[in-house]
Amino acid sequence: MARIEDSGGTATPQLQVGTPGAGGLGRRRFVRYLLGFSIVSSLAMIVTPIVGFLIPTRTASGTEGGRVLAGTLDALPVGSGAVVAVGAKPAVVVNTTAGIKAYSAICTHLGCIVAWDGPANTIVCPCHDGRFNPTTGAVVSGPPPAPLTPLTTAVEGNDIYIVTG
Ligand code: FES
Repeated sequence: MARIEDSGGTATPQLQVGTPGAGGLGRRRFVRYLLGFSIVSSLAMIVTPIVGFLIPTRTASGTEGGRVLAGTLDALPVGSGAVVAVGAKPAVVVNTTAGIKAYSAICTHLGCIVAWDGPANTIVCPCHDGRFNPTTGAVVSGPPPAPLTPLTTAVEGNDIYIVTG
């Protein structure tokens, strides 16, 4: 490192090359540490998401041993339904007269998220008014080419679970 110092009263400043004293060596060491820290930080920022992608967590938030708590019978009486998150995917859960039913909430037409239409007693896709039977997931009307994908459910006491694996 070089620095320019005034030689005390002379008109010409002198160029002084940094000597490898304690200060210069300290700065170099500091810069090396800073560079090393930057490299390690950059590698961590690159590697961490890759490892997270390759080794996903076994259970997502709200899951218990391959089950996701989807609601309660108190909150979901017969004739009602709700869209819930199962990990990163949406599911529609309906309490029908034939029992609790759950399906992937991704419409089989163009992938919109379906919703529960209580007054019409159907699962409805808001994008193109596709309608599905809540008991079977079959297409009732509209453009969807296939029924909703069924999900396995379990009821324990008052709790409704979607079984994920
Ligand atoms: S995306 Fe659902 S009906 Fe078109």
